[in-house]
Amino acid sequence: MTATAVKPLWIGDLKVDPPILQAPMAGFTNSAFRQIVRGFGGAGLLATEMVNAKGFVWLDEQEACHPDRLWGVADEPRPLAVQIWDNDPETLAKVGARLAHEYRVSVVDINFGCPVRQVTEKAHSGSYLLRTPDRMGAIIERVVEACHPTPVTAKTRLGCSRDRINIIEVAQVVEDAGAAALTVHGRTAADMFRGSADWDLIAQIKPHLKRIPLIGNGDLDSAEKVVQAFERYGVDGVMIARASLNKPWLFAQAAAALRGDPVPPDPTLAEERELMLHHFDLVIERFGEPKAVVLMRKYACCYAQGRPGAREFRKQVARIETAAAFQQVVADTFPRDRAPAAPALTPAS
Ligand SMILES: Cc1cc2nc3c(=O)[nH]c(=O)nc-3n(C[C@H](O)[C@H](O)[C@H](O)COP(=O)(O)O)c2cc1C
Repeated sequence: MTATAVKPLWIGDLKVDPPILQAPMAGFTNSAFRQIVRGFGGAGLLATEMVNAKGFVWLDEQEACHPDRLWGVADEPRPLAVQIWDNDPETLAKVGARLAHEYRVSVVDINFGCPVRQVTEKAHSGSYLLRTPDRMGAIIERVVEACHPTPVTAKTRLGCSRDRINIIEVAQVVEDAGAAALTVHGRTAADMFRGSADWDLIAQIKPHLKRIPLIGNGDLDSAEKVVQAFERYGVDGVMIARASLNKPWLFAQAAAALRGDPVPPDPTLAEERELMLHHFDLVIERFGEPKAVVLMRKYACCYAQGRPGAREFRKQVARIETAAAFQQVVADTFPRDRAPAAPALTPAS
Protein backbone atom coordinates (compact mmCIF):
# COMPACT_ATOMS: atom_id res chain seq x y z
CA MET A 1 0.00 0.00 0.00
CA THR A 2 1.26 3.47 -0.77
CA ALA A 3 0.56 6.43 1.41
CA THR A 4 -1.69 7.92 -1.27
CA ALA A 5 -4.07 4.93 -0.99
CA VAL A 6 -5.37 6.20 2.35
CA LYS A 7 -9.07 6.92 2.02
CA PRO A 8 -11.16 9.50 3.85
CA LEU A 9 -12.81 8.27 6.99
CA TRP A 10 -16.57 8.22 7.43
CA ILE A 11 -18.11 8.80 10.85
CA GLY A 12 -21.76 8.16 10.04
CA ASP A 13 -22.47 10.63 7.25
CA LEU A 14 -19.53 12.84 8.17
CA LYS A 15 -16.56 12.62 5.83
CA VAL A 16 -13.30 13.11 7.72
CA ASP A 17 -10.71 14.03 5.14
CA PRO A 18 -7.84 13.66 5.76
CA PRO A 19 -8.47 10.88 8.29
CA ILE A 20 -6.26 12.56 10.88
CA LEU A 21 -8.01 13.69 14.05
CA GLN A 22 -6.95 16.21 16.67
CA ALA A 23 -7.33 14.50 20.04
CA PRO A 24 -9.28 15.91 22.97
CA MET A 25 -6.88 17.14 25.68
CA ALA A 26 -8.21 18.55 28.92
CA GLY A 27 -6.66 21.91 29.72
CA PHE A 28 -5.32 22.36 26.19
CA THR A 29 -7.64 21.84 23.22
CA ASN A 30 -9.76 24.92 23.80
CA SER A 31 -11.04 27.22 21.10
CA ALA A 32 -7.76 29.17 20.80
CA PHE A 33 -5.72 26.01 20.28
CA ARG A 34 -8.24 24.68 17.78
CA GLN A 35 -8.03 27.93 15.87
CA ILE A 36 -4.25 27.52 15.63
CA VAL A 37 -4.59 23.91 14.41
CA ARG A 38 -7.30 24.88 11.93
CA GLY A 39 -5.07 27.64 10.60
CA PHE A 40 -2.38 25.17 9.56
CA GLY A 41 -4.89 22.66 8.19
CA GLY A 42 -4.45 18.91 7.92
CA ALA A 43 -6.76 17.83 10.75
CA GLY A 44 -9.93 16.27 9.37
CA LEU A 45 -11.78 16.54 12.68
CA LEU A 46 -11.04 18.68 15.73
CA ALA A 47 -12.19 18.02 19.26
CA THR A 48 -12.84 19.94 22.46
CA GLU A 49 -11.51 19.05 25.88
CA MET A 50 -13.65 16.52 27.73
CA VAL A 51 -16.75 18.13 29.22
CA ASN A 52 -18.21 16.91 32.50
CA ALA A 53 -21.84 16.09 31.63
CA LYS A 54 -23.06 16.31 35.23
CA GLY A 55 -21.36 19.67 35.60
CA PHE A 56 -23.01 20.87 32.41
CA VAL A 57 -26.48 19.94 33.67
CA TRP A 58 -25.81 21.51 37.07
CA LEU A 59 -24.52 24.79 35.62
CA ASP A 60 -27.45 24.93 33.27
CA GLU A 61 -29.99 24.46 36.06
CA GLN A 62 -28.36 26.62 38.75
CA GLU A 63 -26.80 29.46 36.90
CA ALA A 64 -28.19 29.21 33.39
CA CYS A 65 -24.71 29.12 31.92
CA HIS A 66 -22.60 26.55 30.13
CA PRO A 67 -19.13 25.13 30.86
CA ASP A 68 -16.08 27.17 29.92
CA ARG A 69 -14.95 24.16 27.95
CA LEU A 70 -17.67 24.89 25.41
CA TRP A 71 -16.01 28.21 24.59
CA GLY A 72 -16.25 28.72 20.82
CA VAL A 73 -18.21 25.55 20.15
CA ALA A 74 -21.42 27.27 19.03
CA ASP A 75 -19.74 29.41 16.37
CA GLU A 76 -16.60 27.62 15.25
CA PRO A 77 -16.24 26.11 11.80
CA ARG A 78 -17.22 22.47 11.48
CA PRO A 79 -16.41 19.64 11.63
CA LEU A 80 -16.03 19.71 15.39
CA ALA A 81 -16.45 16.95 17.97
CA VAL A 82 -17.34 17.58 21.60
CA GLN A 83 -16.27 14.96 24.11
CA ILE A 84 -18.38 14.31 27.20
CA TRP A 85 -17.88 12.13 30.26
CA ASP A 86 -20.01 10.66 33.04
CA ASN A 87 -21.39 7.19 33.84
CA ASP A 88 -25.10 7.89 33.75
CA PRO A 89 -26.83 7.19 30.41
CA GLU A 90 -29.56 9.78 31.05
CA THR A 91 -27.19 12.58 31.99
CA LEU A 92 -24.99 11.86 28.98
CA ALA A 93 -28.04 11.62 26.71
CA LYS A 94 -29.38 14.95 27.96
CA VAL A 95 -26.09 16.72 27.31
CA GLY A 96 -25.50 14.85 24.04
CA ALA A 97 -28.90 15.95 22.78
CA ARG A 98 -28.17 19.60 23.63
CA LEU A 99 -24.84 19.43 21.83
CA ALA A 100 -26.33 17.70 18.81
CA HIS A 101 -29.51 19.70 18.38
CA GLU A 102 -28.75 23.10 19.91
CA TYR A 103 -25.02 23.49 19.31
CA ARG A 104 -25.21 21.38 16.16
CA VAL A 105 -21.77 19.84 16.71
CA SER A 106 -20.57 17.33 14.11
CA VAL A 107 -19.84 14.46 16.52
CA VAL A 108 -20.58 13.66 20.16
CA ASP A 109 -17.70 11.61 21.57
CA ILE A 110 -17.93 9.70 24.86
CA ASN A 111 -14.86 9.33 27.04
CA PHE A 112 -14.15 5.77 28.17
CA GLY A 113 -10.39 6.24 28.45
CA CYS A 114 -9.58 8.84 31.07
CA PRO A 115 -7.37 7.22 33.76
CA VAL A 116 -7.33 10.15 36.20
CA ARG A 117 -8.51 9.28 39.75
CA GLN A 118 -10.97 12.12 39.93
CA VAL A 119 -12.81 10.64 36.95
CA THR A 120 -12.30 6.91 37.63
CA GLU A 121 -12.29 6.23 41.37
CA LYS A 122 -14.33 9.26 42.36
CA ALA A 123 -16.88 9.36 39.52
CA HIS A 124 -16.74 5.79 38.18
CA SER A 125 -16.42 7.22 34.69
CA GLY A 126 -13.82 7.34 31.91
CA SER A 127 -11.67 4.20 31.83
CA TYR A 128 -13.42 2.89 34.97
CA LEU A 129 -16.28 1.90 32.67
CA LEU A 130 -14.00 -0.53 30.79
CA ARG A 131 -14.71 -2.91 33.70
CA THR A 132 -18.36 -3.03 32.70
CA PRO A 133 -18.71 -3.23 28.92
CA ASP A 134 -22.48 -3.81 29.33
CA ARG A 135 -22.82 -0.42 30.96
CA MET A 136 -20.76 1.13 28.16
CA GLY A 137 -23.21 -0.41 25.71
CA ALA A 138 -26.21 0.96 27.61
CA ILE A 139 -24.66 4.44 27.69
CA ILE A 140 -23.86 4.45 24.00
CA GLU A 141 -27.30 3.16 22.98
CA ARG A 142 -29.02 5.89 24.95
CA VAL A 143 -26.74 8.68 23.71
CA VAL A 144 -27.04 7.51 20.09
CA GLU A 145 -30.80 7.62 20.39
CA ALA A 146 -30.76 11.11 21.95
CA CYS A 147 -28.32 12.60 19.45
CA HIS A 148 -29.78 11.14 16.26
CA PRO A 149 -28.83 11.88 13.48
CA THR A 150 -25.57 13.31 14.88
CA PRO A 151 -22.99 10.52 15.10
CA VAL A 152 -21.80 9.33 18.48
CA THR A 153 -18.29 7.93 18.91
CA ALA A 154 -16.33 6.29 21.73
CA LYS A 155 -12.73 6.82 22.82
CA THR A 156 -11.12 4.13 24.95
CA ARG A 157 -7.91 2.53 26.08
CA LEU A 158 -6.96 -1.17 25.71
CA GLY A 159 -8.38 -2.09 29.12
CA CYS A 160 -7.99 -1.21 32.77
CA SER A 161 -4.57 -2.82 33.14
CA ARG A 162 -2.19 -5.12 31.27
CA ASP A 163 -3.78 -8.21 32.87
CA ARG A 164 -7.28 -6.97 32.08
CA ILE A 165 -7.07 -6.10 28.39
CA ASN A 166 -10.59 -6.42 26.99
CA ILE A 167 -10.53 -4.12 23.99
CA ILE A 168 -11.88 -6.73 21.54
CA GLU A 169 -14.99 -7.27 23.68
CA VAL A 170 -15.29 -3.52 24.21
CA ALA A 171 -14.98 -2.83 20.48
CA GLN A 172 -17.82 -5.21 19.69
CA VAL A 173 -20.00 -3.68 22.39
CA VAL A 174 -19.29 -0.18 21.06
CA GLU A 175 -20.20 -1.21 17.52
CA ASP A 176 -23.31 -3.17 18.51
CA ALA A 177 -24.58 -0.26 20.62
CA GLY A 178 -24.65 1.96 17.53
CA ALA A 179 -21.53 4.10 17.84
CA ALA A 180 -20.23 5.52 14.55
CA ALA A 181 -16.50 5.12 15.24
CA LEU A 182 -14.09 3.80 17.85
CA THR A 183 -10.85 5.50 18.86
CA VAL A 184 -8.35 3.42 20.82
CA HIS A 185 -5.34 4.78 22.69
CA GLY A 186 -2.93 1.84 22.70
CA ARG A 187 -2.24 1.83 26.43
CA THR A 188 -4.18 0.57 29.42
CA ALA A 189 -5.55 2.90 32.09
CA ALA A 190 -2.95 1.64 34.57
CA ASP A 191 -0.19 2.50 32.10
CA MET A 192 -1.19 6.19 32.24
CA PHE A 193 1.44 7.44 29.75
CA ARG A 194 4.21 4.96 30.59
CA GLY A 195 5.81 2.69 28.01
CA SER A 196 4.82 2.78 24.36
CA ALA A 197 1.41 2.57 22.77
CA ASP A 198 0.79 -1.02 21.61
CA TRP A 199 -0.06 -0.66 17.95
CA ASP A 200 -0.01 -4.45 17.41
CA LEU A 201 -2.96 -4.69 19.78
CA ILE A 202 -4.69 -1.80 18.02
CA ALA A 203 -4.27 -3.70 14.73
CA GLN A 204 -5.89 -6.81 16.25
CA ILE A 205 -9.15 -4.91 16.81
CA LYS A 206 -9.75 -4.16 13.14
CA PRO A 207 -11.04 -7.60 12.00
CA HIS A 208 -13.63 -7.52 14.79
CA LEU A 209 -15.31 -4.35 13.54
CA LYS A 210 -17.75 -4.95 10.71
CA ARG A 211 -19.35 -1.56 10.25
CA ILE A 212 -17.49 1.24 11.99
CA PRO A 213 -14.04 2.73 11.46
CA LEU A 214 -11.13 2.24 13.84
CA ILE A 215 -9.03 5.24 14.79
CA GLY A 216 -5.62 4.46 16.30
CA ASN A 217 -4.00 6.74 18.84
CA GLY A 218 -0.72 6.85 20.72
CA ASP A 219 2.78 8.23 20.26
CA LEU A 220 2.33 9.60 16.74
CA ASP A 221 4.79 12.47 16.62
CA SER A 222 5.89 12.66 12.99
CA ALA A 223 4.44 12.49 9.50
CA GLU A 224 6.38 9.24 8.94
CA LYS A 225 4.78 7.58 11.96
CA VAL A 226 1.33 8.59 10.75
CA VAL A 227 1.97 7.01 7.34
CA GLN A 228 3.30 3.86 9.08
CA ALA A 229 0.19 3.65 11.26
CA PHE A 230 -1.95 3.31 8.15
CA GLU A 231 0.47 1.04 6.29
CA ARG A 232 1.41 -1.36 9.09
CA TYR A 233 -1.58 -1.40 11.36
CA GLY A 234 -4.51 -1.04 8.97
CA VAL A 235 -6.37 1.62 10.92
CA ASP A 236 -8.98 3.75 9.17
CA GLY A 237 -7.86 6.93 10.88
CA VAL A 238 -5.35 8.26 13.37
CA MET A 239 -5.59 10.67 16.26
CA ILE A 240 -2.74 12.88 17.46
CA ALA A 241 -2.56 14.42 20.93
CA ARG A 242 0.62 15.47 22.73
CA ALA A 243 2.85 16.04 19.70
CA SER A 244 0.40 18.62 18.39
CA LEU A 245 1.01 20.82 21.43
CA ASN A 246 4.64 21.05 20.38
CA LYS A 247 3.90 21.15 16.64
CA PRO A 248 0.33 22.19 15.81
CA TRP A 249 1.40 22.04 12.15
CA LEU A 250 2.00 18.27 12.42
CA PHE A 251 -1.47 17.53 11.01
CA ALA A 252 -0.62 19.47 7.85
CA GLN A 253 2.71 17.65 7.52
CA ALA A 254 1.05 14.25 8.04
CA ALA A 255 -1.69 15.09 5.53
CA ALA A 256 0.94 15.97 2.91
CA ALA A 257 2.77 12.71 3.58
CA LEU A 258 -0.48 10.73 3.21
CA ARG A 259 -1.12 12.38 -0.15
CA GLY A 260 2.41 11.43 -1.20
CA ASP A 261 3.44 15.11 -1.35
CA PRO A 262 6.71 16.47 0.08
CA VAL A 263 6.37 17.15 3.80
CA PRO A 264 6.54 20.91 4.42
CA PRO A 265 9.37 21.91 6.78
CA ASP A 266 8.68 23.10 10.31
CA PRO A 267 8.09 26.83 10.65
CA THR A 268 11.16 28.95 11.28
CA LEU A 269 11.88 30.26 14.77
CA ALA A 270 10.67 33.67 13.63
CA GLU A 271 7.41 32.16 12.44
CA GLU A 272 7.03 30.26 15.70
CA ARG A 273 7.45 33.53 17.54
CA GLU A 274 4.57 35.05 15.56
CA LEU A 275 2.50 31.92 16.15
CA MET A 276 3.04 32.03 19.90
CA LEU A 277 2.19 35.72 20.09
CA HIS A 278 -0.93 35.16 17.97
CA HIS A 279 -1.96 32.29 20.24
CA PHE A 280 -1.39 34.56 23.25
CA ASP A 281 -3.62 37.27 21.71
CA LEU A 282 -6.44 34.74 21.27
CA VAL A 283 -6.15 33.65 24.89
CA ILE A 284 -6.00 37.24 26.20
CA GLU A 285 -9.07 38.16 24.17
CA ARG A 286 -11.03 35.47 25.95
CA PHE A 287 -9.64 35.46 29.48
CA GLY A 288 -8.01 38.85 30.03
CA GLU A 289 -4.34 39.38 30.86
CA PRO A 290 -3.75 37.81 34.29
CA LYS A 291 -5.48 34.50 33.50
CA ALA A 292 -4.12 34.43 29.94
CA VAL A 293 -0.55 34.78 31.20
CA VAL A 294 -0.98 31.79 33.50
CA LEU A 295 -2.71 29.73 30.80
CA MET A 296 -0.15 30.62 28.17
CA ARG A 297 2.79 29.46 30.28
CA LYS A 298 1.97 25.81 29.61
CA TYR A 299 1.41 26.30 25.87
CA ALA A 300 4.63 28.27 25.56
CA CYS A 301 6.57 25.47 27.29
CA CYS A 302 5.02 22.92 24.90
CA TYR A 303 5.95 25.02 21.87
CA ALA A 304 9.51 25.51 23.11
CA GLN A 305 10.19 21.83 23.85
CA GLY A 306 13.11 20.66 21.74
CA ARG A 307 13.94 24.18 20.50
CA PRO A 308 17.25 25.92 21.25
CA GLY A 309 17.24 27.43 24.75
CA ALA A 310 14.08 25.56 25.81
CA ARG A 311 15.21 24.94 29.37
CA GLU A 312 16.04 28.58 30.08
CA PHE A 313 12.83 29.63 28.31
CA ARG A 314 10.76 27.36 30.57
CA LYS A 315 12.37 28.81 33.68
CA GLN A 316 11.67 32.36 32.57
CA VAL A 317 8.14 31.65 31.40
CA ALA A 318 7.25 30.06 34.75
CA ARG A 319 7.97 33.41 36.43
CA ILE A 320 6.21 35.81 34.09
CA GLU A 321 3.25 37.80 35.37
CA THR A 322 2.42 40.25 32.59
CA ALA A 323 1.77 40.22 28.85
CA ALA A 324 4.76 42.50 28.25
CA ALA A 325 7.08 40.11 30.10
CA PHE A 326 5.74 37.18 28.10
CA GLN A 327 6.28 39.01 24.83
CA GLN A 328 9.83 39.91 25.87
CA VAL A 329 10.78 36.33 26.78
CA VAL A 330 9.35 35.06 23.50
CA ALA A 331 11.19 37.75 21.55
CA ASP A 332 14.48 36.84 23.24
CA THR A 333 14.14 33.09 22.67
CA PHE A 334 12.62 33.17 19.20
CA PRO A 335 14.54 36.03 17.53
CA ARG A 336 13.40 37.31 14.17
CA ASP A 337 16.83 37.03 12.53
CA ARG A 338 17.44 33.29 12.94
CA ALA A 339 15.12 32.11 10.20
CA PRO A 340 16.51 29.40 7.91
CA ALA A 341 16.19 30.02 4.19
CA ALA A 342 13.62 27.32 3.32
CA PRO A 343 9.96 28.34 3.24
CA ALA A 344 8.03 26.77 6.08
CA LEU A 345 4.48 26.19 7.19
CA THR A 346 2.55 29.22 8.34
CA PRO A 347 -0.93 29.31 9.75
CA ALA A 348 -3.60 30.80 7.51
CA SER A 349 -4.87 32.96 10.35
C1 LIG B 1 -2.80 16.90 28.94
C2 LIG B 1 -3.65 15.80 28.37
C3 LIG B 1 -5.02 15.89 28.46
C4 LIG B 1 -5.82 14.87 27.93
N1 LIG B 1 -7.17 15.01 27.99
C5 LIG B 1 -7.97 14.09 27.39
C6 LIG B 1 -9.37 14.28 27.30
O1 LIG B 1 -9.92 15.30 27.74
N2 LIG B 1 -10.10 13.29 26.71
C7 LIG B 1 -9.52 12.17 26.18
O2 LIG B 1 -10.22 11.31 25.65
N3 LIG B 1 -8.19 11.99 26.22
C8 LIG B 1 -7.40 12.93 26.78
N4 LIG B 1 -6.05 12.77 26.77
C9 LIG B 1 -5.46 11.61 26.07
C10 LIG B 1 -5.16 11.95 24.61
O3 LIG B 1 -6.32 12.31 23.90
C11 LIG B 1 -4.48 10.77 23.92
O4 LIG B 1 -5.34 9.66 23.95
C12 LIG B 1 -3.15 10.39 24.56
O5 LIG B 1 -2.40 11.54 24.90
C13 LIG B 1 -2.30 9.51 23.63
O6 LIG B 1 -2.05 10.16 22.42
P1 LIG B 1 -0.61 10.86 22.11
O7 LIG B 1 0.43 9.82 22.30
O8 LIG B 1 -0.73 11.34 20.69
O9 LIG B 1 -0.45 11.97 23.10
C14 LIG B 1 -5.24 13.76 27.30
C15 LIG B 1 -3.85 13.68 27.22
C16 LIG B 1 -3.05 14.69 27.73
C17 LIG B 1 -1.56 14.60 27.59
